[in-house]
Amino acid sequence: MLRVGPLALVVIRNVDEVSMLWKSTKAFTFDGFIQDMYRGIDIPESSFMPLFADLHTFGKFEDPQPAFIAENPNKKPYIEVQFDWIKDQLQPGPLMEDTLQKIYGNLSHLLEWDNMSPALFRAEEKTRVVNLYQWSQHFLVEAAIKAFMGPELFDLDPNFTQHYIDWENTSWKVAYRYPAIFARDMHKAKEIVVDALEGYFALDSRPNISWLFERMQTEQRRTGIPRRQAACLNLLMLLGINLNSPRTLFWVLAHIFQDPALYEAVLKEVRASCNSDGTVNPELLVKQCAILDAVWLEVLRLYNNSSVARTAVVPMTIQGKHISPGMQVIAPFRTFALSQGFVGEGVDPLKFDAFRFIRDPSLVKHKAYFPFSGGKTYCPGRQIAKAELFYFVATMLNRYEIEPVAGNKAGFEVPAIATDKPNLGVIGPATDIVLRLRRRDGAEE
Ligand code: HEM
Repeated sequence: MLRVGPLALVVIRNVDEVSMLWKSTKAFTFDGFIQDMYRGIDIPESSFMPLFADLHTFGKFEDPQPAFIAENPNKKPYIEVQFDWIKDQLQPGPLMEDTLQKIYGNLSHLLEWDNMSPALFRAEEKTRVVNLYQWSQHFLVEAAIKAFMGPELFDLDPNFTQHYIDWENTSWKVAYRYPAIFARDMHKAKEIVVDALEGYFALDSRPNISWLFERMQTEQRRTGIPRRQAACLNLLMLLGINLNSPRTLFWVLAHIFQDPALYEAVLKEVRASCNSDGTVNPELLVKQCAILDAVWLEVLRLYNNSSVARTAVVPMTIQGKHISPGMQVIAPFRTFALSQGFVGEGVDPLKFDAFRFIRDPSLVKHKAYFPFSGGKTYCPGRQIAKAELFYFVATMLNRYEIEPVAGNKAGFEVPAIATDKPNLGVIGPATDIVLRLRRRDGAEE
């Protein structure tokens, strides 16, 4: 057991006990972690605690009744109903398809030579020099936020992407409940993003907003939450959507560019999945690109630093230790994915192996490998995450010849992981990678 300030923390080391955390929803709750995030972003308890309480807390509503009352036969607390809406939007079906098509369209536009923001490259005679992580973060964040919110948000704040990134880069302070005095940068950045979101939710019409975000903010307002606080709640949802994908994309591309043979192999399978006019075919990509798939799975194994985190509700014993209600129990993913039990005896678990999951496809189902968590917190965006990443990689490789700027391809090193601040989710790189791009269509700058 660990003590972190006033918190008693139990770290699970036996993989067989992880599924118990997922399954025992009566003994363990996730609510405490969500509530800490809400506190960390300055939402008063009086506003958010009713979301977790019995529906009677709200008293009577005028007709039409809110959806969380009218469409809730089992009388679940508001927050549980909101989980269902998240799945409705993000899991396979027409809503997910609509979002994915918008993400593809946005990425295709952003990755076009003539549309690239000059702030994101340095022009040379026939080529451009870009920073890979900056690119991954900027383009994926903008593509996803535009898809979920609609372009009207960007009419209100044309720099919304950068403002959001400034906040996201400090957002780990929310989860770690940093004292306000040490989190001024986070709070300052947050105010700018929340100003834009609040203004957006005040518009008379938002014709391009996704079903999920329109429903969440409308229903949150009906629980009595002020518009500014609803904007904060929605900002946290944007964090769930955006935090992990750019870092995963960065590592996938870094390993591909580091290994010339891997680069050629991925390029070949990506090209084989294109339409006859040369455009990327998202469905074929996800079905046919076995090597890219293996790289993505290996990146998630090596760099995903998420944890299953729960609060004990009833007394119990785990690993021979008595657990009292209120204690926090965590199971860090990397402990298991980097274990000898997963990679095999004598194998260096920190070594990137692009073909591990091709040699042994059963590893995807190994009990020590769960990059998207499980149970109630099983990532609802996992299909979108994979689809948007594959689309990005294919579009980039298909449109540009790319080489690392430092050293030749053979001498290029994948950066170390960042250790200067806590990493929630997928770990970021310590340094960026500089790449040189040349158009494949032969056109010049
Ligand atoms: C490689 C990329 C991704 C990884 C590795 C990942 C992983 C995870 C994990 C481990 C969780 C559980 C977190 C916890 O238990 O605290 C989670 C939750 C979640 N993820 Fe993902 N995710 C990714 C991309 C996405 C994308 C693209 C979306 C949406 C389009 C998304 C939406 C969400 C949401 C909404 C939650 C739940 C947040 C909540 O309701 O509290 N994720 N994800």
